[in-house]
Amino acid sequence: MTILDRPELDLPLSVAMRQGSMAQHTDAENATFTSELMAGRINEAGYADYLRALRVVYAALEELGREMAGDPVAAQLHDPALERLEAIEADIAHWSGGGTLETDSPAAAAYAARIRAASGSATKFVAHHYTRYLGDLSGGLAIGRILDRTYGGTGQGLRFYDFASIERPKVYKDGYRERLDALPLDAAQRDEVVAEVQEAFRHNQALFDELSGRMDAYRR
Ligand code: HEM
Repeated sequence: MTILDRPELDLPLSVAMRQGSMAQHTDAENATFTSELMAGRINEAGYADYLRALRVVYAALEELGREMAGDPVAAQLHDPALERLEAIEADIAHWSGGGTLETDSPAAAAYAARIRAASGSATKFVAHHYTRYLGDLSGGLAIGRILDRTYGGTGQGLRFYDFASIERPKVYKDGYRERLDALPLDAAQRDEVVAEVQEAFRHNQALFDELSGRMDAYRR
């Protein structure tokens, strides 16, 4: 196969990642759970279960980040200012009235296992890091505003969307994409990154599918 058969290999990495996941991004936005969440029709119990699943995912992602921080490629993106685990735990406590942080979600466990399997692979780490954090810094912020309106506008329980030390997400995202594009990866490695982004999106979709199956308990 030559580069002429694979024009995406020529794209800057950030563009290849975005284009490679665009269709899956639309699917994620249209999942029942997500669209109901955006329409203000998910109750607190449903939102707490979503956060419990995310807690499993971010625990794995942030452990991997610390483990890979010394890798020259991973170090370009690793940033403790992005870490969400503590915020997620505080938000679960808020929405569940101090209830359990634990979940038995098979989709969350499978997603976390995929992240842990990226140990030692800078390309896979980059993919998982991008899929979660750039999403949180993008649509995530709009979701936070909708949730605040849905649940009474107290501003409480929304620490997940509050990146205290990232004042301007747009500027941060632009810098992040520049760092992605400057990573010393060859075409085959860039291809690996895009493939793992697609895998990460598949796991997010599985998580939404699981939550979408419980709408009877979650609809408000
Ligand atoms: C209701 C669900 C969602 C909404 C409304 C939403 C919305 C958005 C919006 C508006 C952007 C564009 C921001 C920009 O142009 O800078 C964006 C980007 C992004 N979203 Fe989402 N999103 C959703 C779900 C997801 C999910 C489930 C993931 C994966 C975990 C995700 C990952 C991303 C990523 C990685 C980007 C950055 C794309 C890039 O610039 O390379 N999003 N999202």
